[in-house]
Formats: sequence, structure tokens, C-alpha cells
Amino acid sequence: DDVEKGMYPHYMMKEIDEQPGVIRRIVQKYQDETGAFTIAEDLQAAVINADRLYIVACGTSYHAGLIGRKLIEEKAGIPVEVVVASEFGYDMPLLSEKPAFLFISQSGETADSRQVLVKVKALGHAAITLTNVPGSTLSREADYTLLLHAGPEIAVASTKAYTAQVAVLSILAETLGKAQDIVQVHDMAHELGIVANAMQTIIDEKEQIQQMVLDYVATTRNAFFLGRGVDYFVSLEAALKLKEISYIQAEGFSSGELKHGTIALIEDNTPVIALVTQPHTQLQIRSNCSEVQSRGAKVAIVVTEELAQTGDTFVIPNTALELTPLVSVVFTQLFAYYAALSRGCDVDKPRNLAKSVTVE
Ligand code: G6P
Repeated sequence: DDVEKGMYPHYMMKEIDEQPGVIRRIVQKYQDETGAFTIAEDLQAAVINADRLYIVACGTSYHAGLIGRKLIEEKAGIPVEVVVASEFGYDMPLLSEKPAFLFISQSGETADSRQVLVKVKALGHAAITLTNVPGSTLSREADYTLLLHAGPEIAVASTKAYTAQVAVLSILAETLGKAQDIVQVHDMAHELGIVANAMQTIIDEKEQIQQMVLDYVATTRNAFFLGRGVDYFVSLEAALKLKEISYIQAEGFSSGELKHGTIALIEDNTPVIALVTQPHTQLQIRSNCSEVQSRGAKVAIVVTEELAQTGDTFVIPNTALELTPLVSVVFTQLFAYYAALSRGCDVDKPRNLAKSVTVE
């Protein structure tokens, strides 16, 4: 590999550590001389003139798309639907009258996403690719490209590409909102700077996370991540990361839905990690946690400073509420990393997985 690991034991840890720097670089790359974000006018017009934006992606990129939907709907008032590429291609939903498409792909080479791109281009719709790789297939074949500027990601399990995707989506959302004179509550560049610092705080506490993980995963065969809203979307990514590299069967769950079936799986000491970053749902998540705790689950509450209570397990710094996924996910990446390490797994090259999947 051209990219060196340097002093790091694994690319994954190097890439987790790089995230605060990646966020700062993205902010710079998207700013003009005045400090305002700039995105090509014709790309912006393609989205603003559409009646719906379809986000198409796979795996971790799909999970970033779920956060992107919230950001774009809230900040730019554009309806967004997020779809798994391999489903969309063969079971296409009834499209709106004037759709635009945003393909999210770290590699820009994923076959499942490409076949959708080919189909929607044939239908004459506008397509944008958000990718880490300039000149990649999905970038070349789309009408417009947004770049991640995350630097090469070598570990099979994606970390910095996910946070870069969410950061660029937040910049896109703010830019589209401003272009339509929608009042923005935050200055996104400033808020992303706060996010970079918050990520660093968690990275600096990695040893504490390593200790905690041993307690939770030493002998377990499964684990659950819970949340509501954006915390639910992060819990899906958290579960995927843990599955990919530690082979612990993990599930991300909307905490309210848990009681409608999945709670049957909770046994003594089943690890349940709850993400609590949104004030309007914290009471509900906490009550869902009590439900599983009373059935024997070993609950960890990962919570923002603002919402923290005595007895919570891990506190993450406050950031703008819509950007908490960028911070809480770093905890879950480190959780997965140390779980895999403690089980002697090959962190950078998990079995059966490829970095980029070019077959459907
Ligand atoms: C593979 C990788 C995943 C990745 C997915 C989508 O399955 O193992 O980590 O999320 O492809 O990749 P992309 O390059 O399109 O983002």
C-alpha cells in the first residue's frame, strides 16, 4: 500500500484518528476567500429544481445518507428519500415527477450503485456523486461530483469516509438552504470546527473506551445499539461496524420499536448501547433502556454533556444537535475497534469483505 500506517498498528485506528483533521480540511476546501461555502451553481440548481432528492448508496454510505436526509430536509426544505442501491435498481419506487439523484460512494466504484446511476441517467434525471475518489466511475458518469477530501481510506471498515460524507452533506444542506433564503440557525463552518474538537476529545479518551469494551463484549454473542432519530441512524452504523470487524452479531434499533419484538432477544448481560444526544427523545430512550435493563441487559448510556445524568456510562461533548452523529459515531468506531482487537480479529481486513464491491 502507498499509504503508510506509520506508528499505528492498524489503518483503521489511523483513519479514526485522522477524522478531526479531515473535518477541518473539508471546511477549508468548501470555503471561498470570504469564508462562505461554495458549491457549483448548476449542481445546486439541479437539487433545488427537483421536487425530491433520492439518495442512493450501500453499506456505510447508506447510513451517512440517512443523516443527510435529515440535514437536507431541515436546512433546505427539500424532501429526501434514502434508498439502498441494490433494492432500488430492481424494485424502483414510484418516482416523483421531477427527481434528482445523489449517489454516495466512498470508492465511486460500487456496482450496486452504478447500475442505478445508469438506469436513472437513461430516464434523463440529474445525478450527483459524492465520493472520495476523483475520476472514479460514479464520478465520471454522473452530471456533478462532490468530493469528500478524506484522503485514501485503506481499512475495509469505513470510518473517516462516513464522517466526511456527513460533513459534506451538512455543507450541501446549508448551502442549498441559503440559496433559497431559508434562515439558518447555525453557522455550519463554525459548528463543524466545534465538531472536530469534540471528535478529538473522544479520541483522546480511547483508553477509557478500550477498558469499557472489555466489560461489555468479552463473552457475548450479540449486542444492540439503540437510538431515536439521528441516534437511531448512528446505531445502524455502530452495529454494522461491530459486525464487520468483531463478528459479534449486532443490531441497530430504533429504541421505541425494540419492544415490538426484538426485546425477546434480551438475556442476562446482553450488551445494549444507547445513544442519547437529542433532548426531545432522551426521556423515551432512557425509559426503553430501563425496560431492557430490567430484563437483564447490560446497558451503556452514551450521552452528550448537556443531557448527562449520574450513572451514565460515557459522556461526549455538546455540538449542534444536527451534527451529534459526527461525534457519537467516533465512540462507536472505537468500541468496534477494541471489541475486534480483544477477540483477536483482523481489524483491517475482516473475513469475507472487500473495500469496494464491483459485482451486483
Ligand atoms: C463495501 C464496503 C463497505 C462500504 C460499501 C459501500 O461493502 O465493505 O464498507 O460501505 O461497500 O462502498 P462505497 O465505496 O460505495 O461507499
